[in-house]
Amino acid sequence: MPHNNGVISPHLHVYGCMTNQVLYHVASRGIEFDLLPWCQARAVPVMAYCPLEQAGTLRRNLFSYPVIMRMAHKYQATPAQIMLAWVLRQPGVIAIPKASSVAHVEENARALTLELDSGDIAALDVAFPAPTSKQSLDVV
Ligand SMILES: NC(=O)c1ccc[n+]([C@@H]2O[C@H](COP(=O)([O-])OP(=O)(O)OC[C@H]3O[C@@H](n4cnc5c(N)ncnc54)[C@H](OP(=O)(O)O)[C@@H]3O)[C@@H](O)[C@H]2O)c1
Repeated sequence: MPHNNGVISPHLHVYGCMTNQVLYHVASRGIEFDLLPWCQARAVPVMAYCPLEQAGTLRRNLFSYPVIMRMAHKYQATPAQIMLAWVLRQPGVIAIPKASSVAHVEENARALTLELDSGDIAALDVAFPAPTSKQSLDVV
């Protein structure tokens, strides 16, 4: 599925679009500048791949990042759950964490019930600022 809105746009009204699959996690927010709002305005669901930033060369070991660890402690959750709850805070966004154990699948599913408060969202915005201009999107 292409993720460039210029590519999708001409086909949207003819074929529809089930989802736009893009790399998205707390430390990779490029889609927030214009692609995510564009998809939301057209009811195109955004599917976040690598929501745990576990693949590829862009990895920054966010599971041991202090602000994420602090939040995990506060919510009695795991860093993975904090990262998934952050991705899922946006309307129209779903996440596809890859998991190869039942324990991980169940842990990740529980993130659906975790709601970060506005103070924690703001703290993550400070640690991982949203884009202020159009930028090349991360891919792996
Ligand atoms: N469209 C595209 O271009 C594209 C590109 C890359 C990936 N994808 C797709 O996106 C999905 C996810 O991507 P990804 O696997 O690269 O990255 P990811 O989902 O961010 O990370 C997966 C890694 O996180 C671990 N993990 C999962 N749940 C965990 C938990 N609760 N606690 C600790 N570790 C946990 C997994 O370990 P275990 O396996 O041990 O559970 C695995 O090593 C895949 O289905 C992939 O096919 C799409």
